Amino acid sequence: MGNVSASAPGKCILFGEHAVVYGQPAVAVAVEQRIHVSIQSESDSGDEWKLDGMTFDPLRHPHVAALRQRLWQVEQGAPSLSIRVSGNIPPASGLGSSAALSVAACAALRTGRGRWFNQQPEPSQPSTWAEGYSHQFNTDIAYDASRSISAERKGEAGLHMHYLTDSSVVDTDECALLGHAVEAMAQGGRASPMDASTCAHGGIVLLSDTIESNADYLYTRSLKMEDGQRTWHLHSITPPQGSDDVYLVIGNTGIHAPTSEQVAKVAAALKKNPNRMKEIETIGLIARRGIQSLLEGDFDSVGRAMSENQLMLKGLGVSCPELENLIRAASPSSLGAKLTGAGGGGCMIALTRHPKQTSEAIELAGGRTLISKFGNHGLRVDSSRGLPLWHCGDIE
Ligand code: PMV
Repeated sequence: MGNVSASAPGKCILFGEHAVVYGQPAVAVAVEQRIHVSIQSESDSGDEWKLDGMTFDPLRHPHVAALRQRLWQVEQGAPSLSIRVSGNIPPASGLGSSAALSVAACAALRTGRGRWFNQQPEPSQPSTWAEGYSHQFNTDIAYDASRSISAERKGEAGLHMHYLTDSSVVDTDECALLGHAVEAMAQGGRASPMDASTCAHGGIVLLSDTIESNADYLYTRSLKMEDGQRTWHLHSITPPQGSDDVYLVIGNTGIHAPTSEQVAKVAAALKKNPNRMKEIETIGLIARRGIQSLLEGDFDSVGRAMSENQLMLKGLGVSCPELENLIRAASPSSLGAKLTGAGGGGCMIALTRHPKQTSEAIELAGGRTLISKFGNHGLRVDSSRGLPLWHCGDIE
């Protein structure tokens, strides 16, 4: 019986949550804390899927169920799996635990199944793939929740010419794309690609409504929502000089607040009063200023933009007294502080040069803290044995 283990970091958001769902710019940072996913093939294909030793319930784990539909098709003979999830990212707290789980699971499944190529295999060149998901192809199929999807591609040389089975076939864009697709499904059709891309690529990820000249362009994502199509251009930013001296202290209120509810709350407020879109646009302006400061390595201004962003989030109704309490406690020793993620509970972050002091202040106010630096690794396959766990089609 073979197995694969993969991991991905959580993330926190410096600027722009909620507004990014409406196409405004935002920046997220991968944190040191990670989710680990390991998959093991069961001996009999008729076995039930297991998650952490219990029978897998697709309703409780919609992300994993949606990935199974896209990468591990039972109708094509894929064997049952036993999945284990561990890590130090608290769930439903605004730290992207579900996105980290999704992209790590995606990497584990892709490693477990390997990849077919049409031409000489070049794992980093989607044009050579005979199967898979990439921004270089039509991405509609990744976002289609209605059927089981094989994502086979016919290249010049026909289907299934070469087969590779090792972690080199894992593609960060594929994991980020599928991660976004399954997040969107779990959030009722409204989700930006911010979480999935940050957990997949690591480092610092910038989303914008234009292609930015001073950041490394990754790709463009589009998603059809109830009220129209959204497009985001994603970039990665090299941590600026001086980022070794600043820390992110994360304070957890311990209150679980599902992202989908907060996103729906903002959507309802905007529907009731379309004028409130001005608040979303103001968050976009603050984010843009904060991004410029970040690129310049001016962390004092980054902190100020974060605190201004918090005022807007409070006005939008996604903060709560417990978050405000931790933000107040962190403020005297930090450059700026705000909620991170969907809000309504979950976590806040403080940007600080005095992590110990800030962390103690948050703990005294009743929060549990984690400390992270900038520049953390993205998705990684940590180990594999007995590959492939499954291959679709005959290997000669
Ligand atoms: O709470 P999280 O970690 O899932 O972050 C949500 C961020 C939002 O902007 C509120 C939603 C989104 O899809 O970007």
